[in-house]
Amino acid sequence: MLVPRVIAGSVLVKVALCAIPLSISPVQNASKPLLESFVSYSIEFSSFPDFAGNSSQPNTFSYNLLTNLRDLQGSYPIIRVGGNTEDYATFNESQTVALVGSFDFSRSRDYPTTISIGPEYFDSYSTWPGVTYIHGFSMGKNGSAGYDTLVGTVPLVCKALGTSKVAYWELGNEPDLFKTSSQGPVRPSWWNETDYVEEWLNKTRIIRQLVQQNCPDVITSGKFKFYAPNFAGTSNSLNLITTWNAGLNADNDIAFIDSHNYIGGATQPGVTLQGTLMNHTSTVLSINKHLNESRLLAYTGLPYILGETNSLYNEGAPGLSNAFGAALWGVDFNLYCAATGIARVHMHQGTNYRYQSWQPIDTVNATRGTKAPYYGNIMVAAFLGNLTAGNVSIADVELGSTYQNAYAAYVDGRLERIAVIQLNAYNSTVNGRGIVPAATTKPRPTETFSFQLPAGQTSALKGLHVQRLLANGSDAITGITFDGVSYNLELDGGKPVTLNNVTRGEVLRAAQDGTISVTLPWSSAAILNLQW
Ligand SMILES: *[C@@H]1O[C@H](CO)[C@@H](O)[C@H](O)[C@H]1NC(C)=O
Ligand SMILES: *[C@@H]1O[C@H](CO)[C@@H](O)[C@H](O)[C@H]1NC(C)=O
Ligand SMILES: *[C@@H]1O[C@H](CO)[C@@H](O)[C@H](O)[C@H]1NC(C)=O
Ligand SMILES: *[C@@H]1O[C@H](CO)[C@@H](O)[C@H](O)[C@H]1NC(C)=O
Ligand SMILES: *[C@@H]1O[C@H](CO)[C@@H](O)[C@H](O)[C@H]1NC(C)=O
Ligand SMILES: *[C@@H]1O[C@H](CO)[C@@H](O)[C@H](O)[C@H]1NC(C)=O
Ligand SMILES: *[C@@H]1O[C@H](CO)[C@@H](O)[C@H](O)[C@H]1NC(C)=O
Ligand SMILES: *[C@@H]1O[C@H](CO)[C@@H](O)[C@H](O)[C@H]1NC(C)=O
Ligand SMILES: *[C@@H]1O[C@H](CO)[C@@H](O)[C@H](O)[C@H]1NC(C)=O
Ligand SMILES: *[C@@H]1O[C@H](CO)[C@@H](O)[C@H](O)[C@H]1NC(C)=O
Ligand SMILES: *[C@@H]1O[C@H](CO)[C@@H](O)[C@H](O)[C@H]1NC(C)=O
Ligand SMILES: *[C@@H]1O[C@H](CO)[C@@H](O)[C@H](O)[C@H]1NC(C)=O
Repeated sequence: MLVPRVIAGSVLVKVALCAIPLSISPVQNASKPLLESFVSYSIEFSSFPDFAGNSSQPNTFSYNLLTNLRDLQGSYPIIRVGGNTEDYATFNESQTVALVGSFDFSRSRDYPTTISIGPEYFDSYSTWPGVTYIHGFSMGKNGSAGYDTLVGTVPLVCKALGTSKVAYWELGNEPDLFKTSSQGPVRPSWWNETDYVEEWLNKTRIIRQLVQQNCPDVITSGKFKFYAPNFAGTSNSLNLITTWNAGLNADNDIAFIDSHNYIGGATQPGVTLQGTLMNHTSTVLSINKHLNESRLLAYTGLPYILGETNSLYNEGAPGLSNAFGAALWGVDFNLYCAATGIARVHMHQGTNYRYQSWQPIDTVNATRGTKAPYYGNIMVAAFLGNLTAGNVSIADVELGSTYQNAYAAYVDGRLERIAVIQLNAYNSTVNGRGIVPAATTKPRPTETFSFQLPAGQTSALKGLHVQRLLANGSDAITGITFDGVSYNLELDGGKPVTLNNVTRGEVLRAAQDGTISVTLPWSSAAILNLQW
């Protein structure tokens, strides 16, 4: 493990609004060097053909958005194809279309709950060169439907992915909800960790045997490793630690301990942008449950990741999960994860989902386009930088506040970037309802953050430039930019376009005593880049 040489030393943070300088002791709890593809995605199984297209009509808009992230973090996001619908899908060898789904609005208005896939489904794995995948196999369906689907699809998956496109393997989405699912339980009430482990081992051994027969090089190249157990959370009907103790990793084929996380629910009473998402305290509490669990499993030496996560479960809430405030939440959430040792974060999305980073196709429910949360993903990737080029570790510069936080990025042991996130909600329209306020409305408040570098070090600082994540307010769902760049579909198909009507290229100077000050409008974020 590389221990960063902490140049920031004692970082003094002055929150000018309340004029109380906070003394923050030297950062000694920076993360280990991050693994590549920290910014990754999870795509709903039933939506994957929409997102990827197929070999005759690849979805190049999606690919452009993924390539932007590759250009920042050095490798493509890893795509996990899964979610609730991975356990609903059955396989029909003679079906000519990729996916046939039917909705049951009493179970979900957002995705089909009866799904049949044909061999063409796997053609969608051919559209994004350089991208690697985790295909989520069904575990929920018991009996012959589940067994036939597993046996029918493993050879197709391993041939479609091969050694160059397979990242990891997954069996079953959120089995800790199988007995209690509000969409209908799929296991009896007596089904416990021992039963789950026995079934998981049985079925992963079947998968392994089929891969051995059909794609032996996947096994010999060491690419038969799982994300497991893909639990929904830390307090459901199966316990992760018990599961581990019951022998989940008996075959030594698990590469990452995988849990899922949502901050709250889309229709949970009392959920608001400010109180639930633009709230650093709520993010800290949500992640801490996982940190507790990961500490108990630290002895395994395996990294702990969030294989599916986003703001509000049940696909997000309009006005909350699709607003700029959710993009700011996403920055704080992901950087807090990075700083505390969560090794990778797969942001979940599906067609029409409110929390999606982008809508891949036009539907009656949503317009194809880049959505606010994507800009948060971009800022996270920009802050982490090229993870394949050097050792990047992230430190939480805890401001002890619900409405602000900051992070430091150390590259090969040296402070290179500071991220600042200002989370006070600011509506650009009257009560977020799209009515533009009168000119008399009070101006958008700002807040000044000051960081103190050790005075002796500032002469070595050659440059200091700012990149900002901006929109008209936390309620904005369009007009979002990062560093003056738009990734909107209508400009250049999702490729970066520098706008000439947004300020960029801002340069700061450190004061003689090593103080750096930056002023942020409420509901915005910034990266300070230090050139030594
Ligand atoms: C990231 O770093 C690697 C290794 O130095 C380099 O080959 C690659 O071109 C870099 N990627 C980007 C997007 O800068
Ligand atoms: C499988 O697909 C074929 C072709 O669409 C269809 O005729 C058949 O009924 C399907 N089988 C099942 C079990 O649904
Ligand atoms: C490929 O995608 C196009 C566009 O969505 C669709 O019309 C076509 O049916 C798909 N091909 C197959 C074999 O599913
Ligand atoms: C199989 O699934 C059904 C629900 O789909 C459930 O009623 C039954 O108990 C399950 N059986 C086992 C052995 O898990
Ligand atoms: C699961 O239930 C079986 C049968 O009651 C029992 O033998 C086993 O100890 C239980 N496992 C756990 C982890 O509680
Ligand atoms: C696992 O496989 C064994 C041996 O084939 C079988 O007896 C057992 O019922 C299976 N258990 C489950 C949960 O599928
Ligand atoms: C922020 O989240 C915490 C923890 O959930 C909660 O106690 C607090 O009330 C929230 N703050 C606001 C302003 O809603
Ligand atoms: C994490 O564990 C600590 C120590 O056991 C406990 O005090 C804390 O409440 C736990 N936090 C969460 C969020 O579960
Ligand atoms: C999507 O649009 C259809 C048709 O207007 C509607 O029935 C359905 O409820 C909408 N779904 C959601 C999640 O709003
Ligand atoms: C890291 O250390 C700083 C300074 O001691 C502290 O304020 C912060 O809470 C710590 N962060 C974590 C995630 O432990
Ligand atoms: C912004 O508008 C929303 C939606 O009407 C409202 O709930 C919220 O209180 C407003 N926030 C602020 C900071 O005015
Ligand atoms: C800035 O330019 C973009 C792209 O041309 C445009 O969509 C947007 O409305 C402009 N914003 C303002 C505030 O004029």
